[in-house]
Amino acid sequence: MYKLLEVKDLRTYFYTDDGIAKAVDGVSFSLEKGETLGIVGESGCGKSVTALSIMRLLPGHTAKIESGEILFDRKDITRLNEKEMRRIRGNEISMIFQEPMTSLNPSYTCGNQITEAITAHLNISGKEAKDKAVNILRAAGISNPEKRFNEYPHQLSGGIRQRVMIAIALSCNPKILIADEPTTALDVTVQAQILDLMKKLQAESGMGLILITHDLGVIAEMSDNVVVMYASKVVEFGSAEEIFYNPKHPYTIALLESIPRLTTEKGRLPSIEGTVTSSLNYPPGCRFAARCKEADARCGNEEPPTTRISEGHYSCCWRNQS
Ligand SMILES: Nc1ncnc2c1ncn2[C@@H]1O[C@H](COP(=O)(O)OP(=O)(O)O)[C@@H](O)[C@H]1O
Ligand code: SF4
Ligand SMILES: [Mg+2]
Repeated sequence: MYKLLEVKDLRTYFYTDDGIAKAVDGVSFSLEKGETLGIVGESGCGKSVTALSIMRLLPGHTAKIESGEILFDRKDITRLNEKEMRRIRGNEISMIFQEPMTSLNPSYTCGNQITEAITAHLNISGKEAKDKAVNILRAAGISNPEKRFNEYPHQLSGGIRQRVMIAIALSCNPKILIADEPTTALDVTVQAQILDLMKKLQAESGMGLILITHDLGVIAEMSDNVVVMYASKVVEFGSAEEIFYNPKHPYTIALLESIPRLTTEKGRLPSIEGTVTSSLNYPPGCRFAARCKEADARCGNEEPPTTRISEGHYSCCWRNQS
């Protein structure tokens, strides 16, 4: 099957005053047309930096794509200059972020921002751009789009703002949409509406969707395939079915066990004990060892290899070696 995007052994490091933060450290995955790929892992595992590397929107001068390839349309994105990248960004690959208030410009109306996104990439008149923008707002499930067109971001609720962001991201019919925690700031009902909207728009356009979240419930609902990230690496990869019904990596299993349920013993929400190690100084061996119930002496010394569990299902744990 035709691969829309292939990320191969990507390493993105930050050169900070405290040392080198290995934010993404050998990450590989691919995305097909029409596929939804979920990327899941606790905060600080390298999900956002992976996305920002694909968009080439890494912050400041400290970040560097150290090595690896990001293949899109037979081109390696890591080698493109800014001008070539601008043609891809927001046009062929779009991204939406967690907090739409910080991504929308408070001093321009929503309509302004959508038409600007449209005219920057499509060669059409202002009137055509406005009609298209209103239609996109309507497609994004916004009622009374003509009125919303003239409103400023602060006049809108969080849910509507995120719909506007999706409308902007989709205004140029991208081949890939990267959604980084798109519903985390929203309440459950609005979250469900936004996820439905993304599914619907994806079904219509056949775009590939990379959905980043720490929420396994969202992943289960949306994804075809799942990348589980821990400490800047992919620890398990597989179809959503395999990841949820036949997880092999102790970290994936711990994540699944930590899904909040209504009735937990002692009424507390379970979580994985311990914290993610800082990307400034990863230990040798398996990076999950300090928190892993299954760890033995070898885990702390030798890095586990990637083991093929079945077709399309891989896990990086010594326990998976037969
Ligand atoms: N601007 C930055 N400078 C230095 N380190 C950073 C910066 N941004 C992210 N990092 C580090 O990179 C790692 C991955 O971060 P991130 O991709 O934001 O995680 P996630 O999105 O999974 O929560 C973390 O250890 C984080 O501290
Ligand atoms: S390699 Fe060892 S420490 Fe790492 S997840 Fe597997 S059992 Fe746990
Ligand atoms: Mg993030």
